[in-house]
Amino acid sequence: MSTSIKTLSALAETDALRGKRVFIRSDLNVPLQDGRITEDTRVRASVPAIRMALDAGAAVMVTSHLGRPKEGECQPVDSLEPVVQRLSELLGMPVELRRNWLDGVQVSPGQVVLLENCRCNVGEKKNDPELARKMAALCDVYVNDAFGTAHRAEATTEGIARFAPVACAGPLLEAELKALGRALNQPARPLVAIVGGAKVSTKLSILRALAEKVDQLVVGGGIANTFMLASGLSVGKSLVEDSQLEEAREVIRIMKERGAEVPIPVDVVCAKSFAIDAAAETKAADQVQDDDLILDVGPQTAQQIAAIIAKAGTVVWNGPLGVFEFPAFAQGTETLSRAIAGSKAFSIAGGGDTLAAIAQFNIGEDVDYISTGGGAFLEFLEGKRLPAVAALEDKA
Ligand code: 3PG
Repeated sequence: MSTSIKTLSALAETDALRGKRVFIRSDLNVPLQDGRITEDTRVRASVPAIRMALDAGAAVMVTSHLGRPKEGECQPVDSLEPVVQRLSELLGMPVELRRNWLDGVQVSPGQVVLLENCRCNVGEKKNDPELARKMAALCDVYVNDAFGTAHRAEATTEGIARFAPVACAGPLLEAELKALGRALNQPARPLVAIVGGAKVSTKLSILRALAEKVDQLVVGGGIANTFMLASGLSVGKSLVEDSQLEEAREVIRIMKERGAEVPIPVDVVCAKSFAIDAAAETKAADQVQDDDLILDVGPQTAQQIAAIIAKAGTVVWNGPLGVFEFPAFAQGTETLSRAIAGSKAFSIAGGGDTLAAIAQFNIGEDVDYISTGGGAFLEFLEGKRLPAVAALEDKA
């Protein structure tokens, strides 16, 4: 992470926060079902910053977005109500939810309040400077701890940092930037990236950026199908993007020129339909029939990937190798997961599907760093400057 950014941890070590009003932008955007949180990682990950500010004697305000509400029309489903309950439990103290908070927030040192969904405020998404200025006036110190939203230039993530008297990074943002920076900027080699997912087109800029850096680029899912087709193999009726064949060849070419490689599957697991109970058939990569759907890599390919991971110094993982939600097509992703869990490499993982696979194969403890970011994780991998981080750097 840029050494120029101020950090909450450094401020907390001095007496700079005592009696001060601290405004923390967290990413508490958690999945909900019937008003209940189904996965609370982001709430848990937000606790250390809040505790740090409380312990340093600050009066603490926390806010986050939840979903993508229509500005100015906050509905009950947009409310942070379920989050405030979980946050109170985790902090072991009452946390009040405050609505209509733009005109002033009463909060005392040692107390924490949660400010209702910041995306309900008009001007949040388009980073309105008037809104940012108003929010900055609520605090003495602004803390950005929302890595998951760091790729968005919004009023609570970007604009406010420019107007607040002091702006700094919270411990979660600090840890994310450090772990991801270590993996990409000073990696122990070989550096291996695994990029799975449906479409080359949605991950093209990441694939291109990684092609310049990594020693091996393992592709999975629909992306692997496009690379197979680009290498002259047929993929039957599998998910594939014909329009991206040249792009895939270009990625392979860039890698080859650097003496690096994109391993192409040597065997695959196919089905005749996309269904949980479809019969699975393992075949050599050059034996795929016109009516076949490739739903996973085969065991030989999975072993080759595991061997690559075993020799890696650093592993960056985003996206599964197959349809791991269907047991018959989970083997590739499971073998990959176990290889990462067992490897000595510094490993980082991020993205919704990847986190689901990590949970399914229960390897969370064995991955060195699991990012709370989805889109932000991907943009970081692309080498983009994240607007929320840029605002803190510019401020410093
Ligand atoms: C996420 O879930 O990736 C972040 O909270 C950002 O959400 P957004 O895509 O709605 O900006």
